[in-house]
Amino acid sequence: MESLVIYDSNHGNTRKIAETVAEILGAPAVSVSDAGPEHFSGLGLVVVGSPILGWKPSERTQAFLAALKKEQLKGVKAAAFDTRVKLFIHGDAAGKIAKVLADAGAEMISEPQPFYVKGKEGPLFEGELEKARDWAVEIKRASSRF
Ligand SMILES: Cc1cc2nc3c(=O)[nH]c(=O)nc-3n(C[C@H](O)[C@H](O)[C@H](O)COP(=O)(O)O)c2cc1C
Repeated sequence: MESLVIYDSNHGNTRKIAETVAEILGAPAVSVSDAGPEHFSGLGLVVVGSPILGWKPSERTQAFLAALKKEQLKGVKAAAFDTRVKLFIHGDAAGKIAKVLADAGAEMISEPQPFYVKGKEGPLFEGELEKARDWAVEIKRASSRF
């Protein structure tokens, strides 16, 4: 089963989470701008992550999601995450990504996962990379259980 992590990142925070998750999964981490149809053949597990920008996923992530076809992810297990600030009102990216992946036929194997940064451009809070490692271990277990 091929696994893949797709992410967008301007300031490196989402990339760091994506690379940490990818390392645990033994999967490549691919920038959303480079993710094309060739990445979907034989795919068993996909994890998609984006920063929240202006309350929603980044423009590039939205474009990627909008290009997914109905049933394109049928038979693929999936999980979504975002990076965000720790404010009472922050918007959402992971939940929106998860919904589109599920609509494209993916079987979601984890709740949408937030990771927190200290300011508009980061850095990540202490402990977030460890949290990403633990989350990736959970995803790995869940993807082999079903
Ligand atoms: C222009 C801009 C808009 C942002 N809007 C939000 C937002 O609406 N909600 C939120 O929680 N964080 C927001 N953030 C914080 C980013 O989500 C956070 O810094 C993220 O980790 C950046 O990811 P990156 O380092 O991978 O680019 C914003 C940051 C920038 C620069």
